[in-house]
Amino acid sequence: MKYCIRSVVLLMVAVLLFCAPFTAGAAPKLSLKLGHAVPEENAYHYGALKFKELVEAKTGGEVQIDVFPNNQLGTGERDLLEGLQLGTVDVYVGSTGPMGGFEKRFLLFDFPFLFKDKKHVYSVLDGEIGQHILSLLGGKGMHGLAWMENGFRNLTNAKRSIGGVPDVKGLKIRTMENKVHMAMWRTLGVDPTPMAWSEVFTALQQGTIDGQENPIPVIYTSKLYEVQKHLALTRHVFSPAMIVVAKTVFDSLSQEHKKIFEDAAQEAALYQRQVCDKMENEFVDSLKQNGMEVTTPDLAPFQEACKSVYEEFRGELGEDAGLLDQIIAIGKE
Ligand code: PAF
Repeated sequence: MKYCIRSVVLLMVAVLLFCAPFTAGAAPKLSLKLGHAVPEENAYHYGALKFKELVEAKTGGEVQIDVFPNNQLGTGERDLLEGLQLGTVDVYVGSTGPMGGFEKRFLLFDFPFLFKDKKHVYSVLDGEIGQHILSLLGGKGMHGLAWMENGFRNLTNAKRSIGGVPDVKGLKIRTMENKVHMAMWRTLGVDPTPMAWSEVFTALQQGTIDGQENPIPVIYTSKLYEVQKHLALTRHVFSPAMIVVAKTVFDSLSQEHKKIFEDAAQEAALYQRQVCDKMENEFVDSLKQNGMEVTTPDLAPFQEACKSVYEEFRGELGEDAGLLDQIIAIGKE
């Protein structure tokens, strides 16, 4: 009898162990780390969570994605992109800002006042030009999945109200690590100071820089109104964002999972763009409510002053220099 009970118990344990994977859901075969540089309130995070949700659901839990916001995996976007190459980051959601340092032809989107509006932006990014630029990541150990967005960049500073070009002269402004952006500000008489994003809030707080430039969702969700009084709606550069996976990771996926990643990224990108656009429209008022003074300077003198940047950097685009004219022409359609 004693042996009989023992056999029944052993049998039950064996059945439970056998059934566990089916009842509790399959354990992930692949766990990936997704990193971005901004707070959880930012549209990047919404896009990242949507990508995670879709990939995990469509792979039946075989691929798990953990999202690390707020520069937890690096000091800023250049560092996160380097992490993709080194294997410390598997998936990146972020701007193209530092990409010109990896592949010069990415500088294409950094020319000042290149994009008129979002319609112009997405006819370029969702067309052949966008696909071509995204494909250049392949040569850099990365695989570009889809275009998200950061938004049009605007200037903030702690010193004075900006009504026109003379007002920006002499300001010390943090820029991304991007030589076209830096040249643009230099042309306008600004002292451009490139810096990793994780250092910017403290630098603004301590007054080692006077200002910075970023899209409205970043300015609001990173609470820059606590350290910046003046916002000028300069919309000087459109900042595209991308969802990128490390090439080694992407290459290791089955065909079925590759397709799931691509579809999930497209769907998450469309969702993220909507969230970002809504934030861009709504958060100007929120910034005013938080004490910022907002100006809308006449942009024509800024555009005129920045023309020299086109001549200075066109050559850096090499065989793709003609794409600059194509983008301008698309804006006129
Ligand atoms: O200014 C930057 O570095 C970027 O715009 C940011 C804030 C990391 C978002 O992409």
